[in-house]
Amino acid sequence: MTSPDEAKVKIEKLRAEINHHNQRYYVLDSPEISDAEYDDLMRELKQLEEQYPQFLTPDSPTQRVGAAPLEAFGVVEHPQPLLSLGNVFSQDELLTWYTRTSRLAGDTPFDFVGEHKIDGLAVALTYADGQLATGATRGDGFRGENITHNLRTIRSIPLSVPRGAPPRFEVRGEVYLSRTGFQKLNQERAAEGLSLFANPRNAAAGSVRQLDSRITARRPLDIIIYMLGWAEGKATPDTHWETMEYLKSLGFKVNPNNRRLKNIEEVEEFYKTWKEQREGLQYEADGIVIKINQLNLHAELGNIGHEPRWAIAYKFPAVQGTTILRDIGISVGRTGTLNPYAILEPVSVGGVTIKQAALHNEDDIRRKDIRIGDTVIIQRAGEVIPEVVGPIASKRKGKEKEFSLLKKLPRNDKGQPACPECGGEAIKPEGEVMYYCSNAACPAQAQQRIEHFTSRGAMDIRGIGENLSATLFKEGLVRDAADLYYLRKEQLTNLEKMGEKSAENIINAINKTRERPLARVLFALGIRHVGVEMAEVLAGKYHSIDDLAKASRDELMEISAVGPTIADSITAFFRQDDNLNIIRKLKEAGVKLEEKAARPSDLPLSGKEFVITGRMEAFSRQEAEARINELGGAAKDNVTRQTDYVVVGADPGSKLARAQELGITVLDEKELIKLLRKDVV
Ligand code: IVH
Repeated sequence: MTSPDEAKVKIEKLRAEINHHNQRYYVLDSPEISDAEYDDLMRELKQLEEQYPQFLTPDSPTQRVGAAPLEAFGVVEHPQPLLSLGNVFSQDELLTWYTRTSRLAGDTPFDFVGEHKIDGLAVALTYADGQLATGATRGDGFRGENITHNLRTIRSIPLSVPRGAPPRFEVRGEVYLSRTGFQKLNQERAAEGLSLFANPRNAAAGSVRQLDSRITARRPLDIIIYMLGWAEGKATPDTHWETMEYLKSLGFKVNPNNRRLKNIEEVEEFYKTWKEQREGLQYEADGIVIKINQLNLHAELGNIGHEPRWAIAYKFPAVQGTTILRDIGISVGRTGTLNPYAILEPVSVGGVTIKQAALHNEDDIRRKDIRIGDTVIIQRAGEVIPEVVGPIASKRKGKEKEFSLLKKLPRNDKGQPACPECGGEAIKPEGEVMYYCSNAACPAQAQQRIEHFTSRGAMDIRGIGENLSATLFKEGLVRDAADLYYLRKEQLTNLEKMGEKSAENIINAINKTRERPLARVLFALGIRHVGVEMAEVLAGKYHSIDDLAKASRDELMEISAVGPTIADSITAFFRQDDNLNIIRKLKEAGVKLEEKAARPSDLPLSGKEFVITGRMEAFSRQEAEARINELGGAAKDNVTRQTDYVVVGADPGSKLARAQELGITVLDEKELIKLLRKDVV
């Protein structure tokens, strides 16, 4: 038995811990523990607070929904708070919820709607007079972040609804990244040397909370609407099921897997079915949500704290396991990063045997205090590479060893730390968390660069995967990516297990890629810190590789998305003779390295220059400028004779006078919105 004093200490400790994890999860999009572990902490705290209500305080993490919104975005007040959901983890707990709910419902009969609990990010979309007016995150439930500009880029969110919809209403739903979209994004980030998103939810959250909506627009985000928040000026249906049908008729994307469930037995069936089949879904679901169908009962049952009594999340068991961390190995990445990875005592997790797992970087290992010999929790989410969540410190025997990458690296003749593959010097640039192999000719890197060049997001040469890239490199047929275009069929048929037909297919596949867009080529070249998105920005600006190669560091940094690290990396790339040689060979092989102005001139604002002055009401200047760019226009700082429109907000500066002097068309914010919405000039 815990004494009240002990309980108080424990409660405070749990609160501090949960607050820390809330900050990591909601504000920094970078959690340190798995959802299952977080749920356990929450559950323990809730139980203690129920047992010792004298210690319950309004600021306890059990009393709030999330963390405060980030200030960088405007704040949106939710007229009706966005609630959270209570969780159950077993059939027993589900029945307890059901019994209590039935008792409270008294004689009123009810049934349920079963839905998937999609692992993404909750958003509220408000429509006014038929148009999407604001889109916001949940924030702390009462106030969220205004992310309208980003949500507008999600194709499945209708920007307008048909006549006959309520004059004002709000729908709520989950924004998510598909499993494949998530994998692709992480692959790109790995290629850029960026930290990886731990799961699709963090990736979705990171994507909608971009300040630059062009970045959001390139992420394959989707939404599923799961409830009507509120509606004014028109009656809406009496049941949740019919409301969802109604929302479907207004053009919202509602989950086709939703089911009407007559009784608690059917709820259990629904749970069992999806527990087995969830891996086949396009999105990650961490459980099901059971909602009482009759909306009048929602009002009657009300909430406990921030959790409605009329709904419950029935969570799937996490795909986690524990095993022993035997050792930490080091692999060499394409850009020379020396990556630590876990070598595990093989263990079966959710039916898959796992021997190795990701460990991200040394700082991460230290922060999580992972030691060699530890019993560790590993987690597998969908197709993603399994990762080490953290150690179970209580299982330590005292013989576990802390890991030091520096100590683990071999030494070269001069006693310097060296690359485990080629012996080149290993260096750690200031301010970075990774060690790199500094040898540009490191074969391990070269081989991976070739593989990257052929990969899907890059040149997408079908038929050349990891294995064939390695063979071609080892046989000396391909020393760098450009050599691919000089391969001859006979060279391929000389390889083991390579028939005439396959060789021909490969040569054809290579030939087809000579016309790939410039952005693809730039990404494929594997310039450090230049991922798919950055490659598109660069191609859009320079239109030819030669012009990009000539750009100075300062010139590059004039692009808003380019900072010093990227600018340095690009200029360094084009200074290296090996790289210039590859570019020359590509050019000689007929690979297209330039293109006409990337923006098609038929975009609605093509060729138009805008200057914005004064404060806008509906969006920030950055949002307005991003939208102008999206539609092909250019947003400039100064009014000149070339300026087509000056947009004037509140308290405009001298730019308005200058515009009038030059006789330039002046728009107010409403007129700008019209222009941006209607997509016509
Ligand atoms: S209903 C009061 N339905 O789960 C009702 N939520 O833990 C709350 N979620 O914030 C929302 N799928 O982000 C509902 N089918 C679904 C859901 C769902 C995912 C998320 C949502 C919510 C969180 C609550």
